[in-house]
Amino acid sequence: MELYEVLAKRRTYRDYSDREVSDEILKRVIGAAFKAPTNDHLRQLEFIVVRGREHIAQTIAPLGKNMEAFKNLVFEADDTGDKEKMAMFADALPKQQKMLMESGLLIIPFFRQKQSPLLEPAEQSSLNYFASAWCALENMLLAATNEGLGSVFHIPVGDEVSEIKKITGAPEDYEFICLLTIGYPAENAVLPKQKEINIEDRIHENIW
Ligand SMILES: Cc1cc2nc3c(=O)[nH]c(=O)nc-3n(C[C@H](O)[C@H](O)[C@H](O)COP(=O)(O)O)c2cc1C
Repeated sequence: MELYEVLAKRRTYRDYSDREVSDEILKRVIGAAFKAPTNDHLRQLEFIVVRGREHIAQTIAPLGKNMEAFKNLVFEADDTGDKEKMAMFADALPKQQKMLMESGLLIIPFFRQKQSPLLEPAEQSSLNYFASAWCALENMLLAATNEGLGSVFHIPVGDEVSEIKKITGAPEDYEFICLLTIGYPAENAVLPKQKEINIEDRIHENIW
């Protein structure tokens, strides 16, 4: 695929078939993470790969109790009346657990968090480790798209980080950025409409 075609085809899929993603493809997708820029030149990324719906269900068990609260919070927080955004949430929220289990492949990308704790940054550059991990994640999303796969991730809320770190036995000084699924999309997968952006409106010459 051409790069711009990959960029256009990358979408957030929340409905998957159970067709297995091979180890070779998985390795290529994870390999793409190590081609992303990194703040410390070290690329201290580690990946927990969980296969099989039952194993995934055990790993993401802490999501269960949080989902109701999360749903209310998002709807309360929205005062924009943005229809496209709400259509996305209406599809996405009830699927947060299902979407992570359906393809039978869950990937948890960890990065080493040195210096200040992730949630107590001293300055913007304290977040460089986190930012590097997200650069790596975008590479993975694009690589997955190039392999004909869909992808989606759930951002942990509440106590999901600490609970999932306990369940997976992750070291203290490592954090994870999200719960990522890649897989073959279901035939009837729903894709909310993307916002149409006029690029020229977003470019400010010399001053805003
Ligand atoms: C920082 C960030 C957090 C997100 N959190 C979630 C999430 O927790 N659950 C989810 O289903 N999608 C999540 N998404 C996916 C967005 O909903 C999605 O990218 C957006 O609606 C645009 O759709 P598209 O990816 O198909 O272009 C997140 C995306 C970003 C960049």
